[in-house]
Amino acid sequence: MPDLWQDAMDHAVSLARTAGTLVREAVQNDMKVMLKSSSVDLVTKTDQKVEKLILESVKEKFPTHSFIGEESVAAGEPCKLSDSPTWIVDPVDGTTNFVHGYPFVAVSIGFAVNKKLEFGVVYSCIEDKMYTARRGKGAFCNGQPLQVSDQKEINQSIIATEFGSDRHVEVVDKIFSSMRNILCLPVHGIRGVGSAAINMCLVASGCVEAYYEMGIHCWDIAAGVVIVEEAGGVLMDVDGGPLDLMSRRVIAANNKMIAERISEQIDACAPLRDDASTA
Ligand code: IPD
Ligand code: CA
Repeated sequence: MPDLWQDAMDHAVSLARTAGTLVREAVQNDMKVMLKSSSVDLVTKTDQKVEKLILESVKEKFPTHSFIGEESVAAGEPCKLSDSPTWIVDPVDGTTNFVHGYPFVAVSIGFAVNKKLEFGVVYSCIEDKMYTARRGKGAFCNGQPLQVSDQKEINQSIIATEFGSDRHVEVVDKIFSSMRNILCLPVHGIRGVGSAAINMCLVASGCVEAYYEMGIHCWDIAAGVVIVEEAGGVLMDVDGGPLDLMSRRVIAANNKMIAERISEQIDACAPLRDDASTA
């Protein structure tokens, strides 16, 4: 049976490559930094230009599809996941890295139908790594199949996480207490490359056992969800329940055991949902 969404996925891969080339060329040249929710939530002309490029191309080729994009939402568009085929796009994941020339920056394109993610494309454009996954067909990096780590022991694991961009002291305290609990399990190490999408691809690649974060957005993780699942991994909310794409909390792990061990250590907070104003 032909794959109904193959055409969309091929287009996403081609868009991610074009967008990634643009991002790569702009690193450290696009010095005009603007602020969003706080002084550490950055945006540049490149974020906006890349999102416009992707949005216009999707609207032209798939006029009936819906679109949720980080910069469109920042400009006031609704962030509501309906049953309609929906592109969920982060034009530059790792904007802080982009601004500083720290070499982990990704274009992230997820695609959902009936609220179920069907494919994910993450192009880590400085590394020139194209991660792709189609539901039921496996996950790949530059065409090579991906498989999560088979590690079952949390104390032999590396865990990825981030500090996010909320500097309210109550939130920072929870981030630190969660991290302290996990570090002291103990684990082999804690890492984080500054891009949620790339952290998830590292789980899929098997070099870190898990990634968790509170404060991410749906566009940071939509593509990574399919890539992790298709590499054999699992997704969970930080409270141990099922992942809710709009809840701004995620655990992505190589297996349920590791995900649950992390969830037990997390001092959870509940950021304002992505769909709060449109729910
Ligand atoms: C951010 C990155 C970062 C994570 C933040 C995200 P952005 O996305 O993924 O690693 O800690 O929570 O918002 O702003 O660079 O697209
Ligand atoms: Ca972004």
